[in-house]
Amino acid sequence: MATHAKPIGVFDSGIGGLTVVKALMRELPHEPIVYFGDTARVPYGSKSKSTIVRFSMENVEFLLRFGVKAIIIACNTSSSWALPTLRRYFKVPIVGVIRPGSRAAVQQTTAKRVGVIGTEATIRSRAYELEIKRLDASIAVFSQSCPLFVPLVESGWLNGAISAQIARTYLAPLKRHRIDALILGCTHYPLLAPVIQRALGPSVTLVDSATQTAAEVKGLLAWHEWLQGSRQRPRYRFFVTDEPDHFARLGQQFLGQAIRSVERVNYR
Ligand code: DGL
Repeated sequence: MATHAKPIGVFDSGIGGLTVVKALMRELPHEPIVYFGDTARVPYGSKSKSTIVRFSMENVEFLLRFGVKAIIIACNTSSSWALPTLRRYFKVPIVGVIRPGSRAAVQQTTAKRVGVIGTEATIRSRAYELEIKRLDASIAVFSQSCPLFVPLVESGWLNGAISAQIARTYLAPLKRHRIDALILGCTHYPLLAPVIQRALGPSVTLVDSATQTAAEVKGLLAWHEWLQGSRQRPRYRFFVTDEPDHFARLGQQFLGQAIRSVERVNYR
């Protein structure tokens, strides 16, 4: 098969990466996508570097079976810890969400004070902070892990008093630091954007890594001349390592549309 006709591979620790798929579908509506969500082993955000790297390697190996032309790591935690290793091991172009998200934040901030929120592992890695500093050393970066946000989203608690209270508690230190841009450094957080915005007030711009990542993937494919030529409706395939029904049901919220078929894999 010619490279331009091959699918894009996307992986995540579970369901949250569908926010990145949503952005990819919007930006690249003719590209076929193979999505792999490691729902049996989620969350990655509380795990160690060696485990995150090992799982991420296995996820790439799975996607390579489909002859994917590029791989997108939708998961912020995997992008933070595993991207350099994956790039050393595999020839296929691999895009993470850290650099695109950082670039978007650097463009947004005028006060040069950026906040980053993510899982414990993402924040511990300092990946966003280091990337932002690399782009502009004069920017001050303030980070905060928000471990309760993922279970809140997965339980459907996107609004209401409890979510608002948790958001205010997590975000109070960032507010005190007078940030004017906040990176939503986790796949799930765009679903909490209204609550987060209310907690921080209108002067803070929320930066969603997914949108910027999709734009960069488009640039990458165009540069290689790998953009899908056909104008037909592309094929989307979804694979998970745990119960497909749960993924299909909850996934609708993340993707903004129904997911017709989800396949369960046991890839070892
Ligand atoms: N996908 C993860 C991330 O973006 C969140 C869920 C998890 O902890 O695995 O960091």
